[in-house]
Amino acid sequence: MFPLRRNRRLRTNEAIRSMVRETIITPNDFLVPLFVVEGKGVKEEIASMPNYYRFSLDLLEKEVKDLWKLGLKSVLLFVKVPDNLKDNKGTEALNPNGLMQRAIKTVKNACPDMLVMTDVALDPFSSYGHDGIVNNGMIINDSTVEVLAKMSISHAKAGADFVAPSDMMDGRILSIREALEKEGFTNTGIMSYSAKYASAFYGPFRDALDSAPVDLQNVPKDKKTYQMDFGNRLEAVRETLMDVDEGADIVMVKPGLCYLDIVREIKNVVEVPVAVYQVSGEYSMIKAASEKGWLDHDAVMIEQITAIKRAGADIIASYFAKDVVKLIS
Ligand code: PBG
Repeated sequence: MFPLRRNRRLRTNEAIRSMVRETIITPNDFLVPLFVVEGKGVKEEIASMPNYYRFSLDLLEKEVKDLWKLGLKSVLLFVKVPDNLKDNKGTEALNPNGLMQRAIKTVKNACPDMLVMTDVALDPFSSYGHDGIVNNGMIINDSTVEVLAKMSISHAKAGADFVAPSDMMDGRILSIREALEKEGFTNTGIMSYSAKYASAFYGPFRDALDSAPVDLQNVPKDKKTYQMDFGNRLEAVRETLMDVDEGADIVMVKPGLCYLDIVREIKNVVEVPVAVYQVSGEYSMIKAASEKGWLDHDAVMIEQITAIKRAGADIIASYFAKDVVKLIS
């Protein structure tokens, strides 16, 4: 009781503050998303994501070596697929010599110990910009899941350590796990985007991959029939527990900042690691506000990353990974 207890004593100076700080950020916390394109010598900035780039395979090699030197030991790969290779079923996703498969090999060659996770969903390969097969204005669950399982096998064959299904179809974790077991990939892990919300914060990512749902009749304009409604909390728990039952090694909440209540809720109920994806729109907001001089970029970045970890994230997928690690080292 006051004045016997004065909480400010523990805030007197940086030495005592750092001694009692509960949440510390380290390079081990991060999973680095990387965007890959065809070509040579390509490092193109994404318009809505300042200082974030798409890399061709030759420059991807250099980038992952740089990440490794900074202590960043895992990457999450996404590919930008040329329009002429897109169709409704994501056929190109299964090409053993496709861009994703080559990207996996490129990273493993450049940096054999780098943990490689791969995005599993149809949208970058879909002529309609959906995570599943479109038929009559609907996204068809079970036939999509069949493709996702094949895609996962293809990534595992190319050398992926983990597949990361980001599609939100029902039952895909079980189907992928069974397919991996059947093909002998018993050590390939699954990081499930288990509570992924239908969020407007994904906008810049869809620019990066040119993967937004197309504006055509009989094609849904949004992803609300598979991604979750942002008003829901119990549903996130249900989705996540099912994914753990189906064989997910790591679960994920996405986006980050607006969903930290969900992160804590999930952290309290599962016994597997919890990942949080600080998504493209969260990145772009900080970049835009700091470009205008309205926010202190580094301070806001660290505060948000720390908040995500404090909420319960064991792993943070973030476009800020490199910036943070440079700042704290
Ligand atoms: C698609 C996918 C998306 C993101 C990761 N995988 C976009 C979407 O669901 O439309 C978003 C990531 C980000 O915004 O940074 N399967």
